[in-house]
Amino acid sequence: MAVIAGLAAPATTIFERMSRAAAQTGAINLGQGFPDLPDPPELIAAAQAALAGKSNQYPPMRGLPALRQAIAGFYAREQGLTVDEREVLVTSGATEALAASILTLVRPGDEVILVQPLYDAYVPLVQRAGGIARFINLTPPEWTLPLDALASVISDRTRLLILNTPNNPAGSLIDRATLEAIGRLAEQHNVIVLCDEVWEAMLSDGAAHVSPLTVPGLRQRAIKIGSAGKIFSLTGWKVGWACAAPELIEAIGASHQFLTFTTPPALQWAVAEGLALPAEWHAAHRARYHTGRARLIAGLEQAGYVVLAGAATWFVTVDLAASGITLTDTAFCERSIPEAGVAAIPISSFYAEAPLTGYIRLCFAKGDDTLDAAVERLAIFRASLI
Ligand SMILES: Cc1ncc(COP(=O)(O)O)c(C=O)c1O
Repeated sequence: MAVIAGLAAPATTIFERMSRAAAQTGAINLGQGFPDLPDPPELIAAAQAALAGKSNQYPPMRGLPALRQAIAGFYAREQGLTVDEREVLVTSGATEALAASILTLVRPGDEVILVQPLYDAYVPLVQRAGGIARFINLTPPEWTLPLDALASVISDRTRLLILNTPNNPAGSLIDRATLEAIGRLAEQHNVIVLCDEVWEAMLSDGAAHVSPLTVPGLRQRAIKIGSAGKIFSLTGWKVGWACAAPELIEAIGASHQFLTFTTPPALQWAVAEGLALPAEWHAAHRARYHTGRARLIAGLEQAGYVVLAGAATWFVTVDLAASGITLTDTAFCERSIPEAGVAAIPISSFYAEAPLTGYIRLCFAKGDDTLDAAVERLAIFRASLI
């Protein structure tokens, strides 16, 4: 029945497809980014208490004041960033904050600069708003942002520049000097910078995250997007937020009110409590992933894989050609589920045009036994390919 004939719906995401295939075949899922370590008990207890003891009716459209204050407090402590409650909008996950921002700011015909590899929600949202996507690329192994390429593509037709630091999948960060240069270009062309910072807390190797909101030239023209799902490893909670100057937050809130309007109050209370936990708690929570990261890198290297280990996120990238494998990333990932019993994500799926095809992404936010079993299987698989 052609009830929806003519609709060009976006394809189901690679993450969903790979997870489904892994579940059907019993493969170890190092594809989609979700941890299998125990949930932080403090957050679960806080959500339970809030469900039983607080109102379960619509909370304020902008988010609970307690959560907006907690977000401001967390950024003041962790990033030396001053935002006040009026500069915070709580959303149903970072994805909704991205959607509300893009739908608010991009008008039909506006150009939007996107940096590949990119999170897969950006392009469909820009297109849905009628924007024209222009791409620049990070290049491995350092994945640094090419300022010359940015300078050549930015113009007075550009409305929005979408950044993602730390970057998923590369795990690379944009440093302060680069952000300052971006700020100068953005001011010159009156461009707004939408910065997806959901991985800001998942850092290793002493890496430091710099938010564009701490760069003077960007303070009034950048939007910072965060996600409790990533900070607390509770990806299913879908509690996110946008922080920006009041004028921008006011405008984005106007879209948010017709997308989800609000976010479950019990989860907002729990996230507020979690953000207020001491810095030592947050450091220990992050450190839980350092072991898995080191374990996966060591295991893969021993099996002959060449690993590009970024300094952030829950992921590492493998360079297939350098590992002696001639398959494309997609062919590798399609075969690794049935043949190796391990799901991975092809890096080409993070590109909308001219993809890199020789890299795969693996998630290390898993227990030791899962990682060891995956490495053992991937070692046998590599041996069968070379
Ligand atoms: C770069 C990036 N942005 C946004 C999201 C989505 O965050 P949320 O689950 O809070 O919507 C993800 C999730 O993987 C991500 O990697």
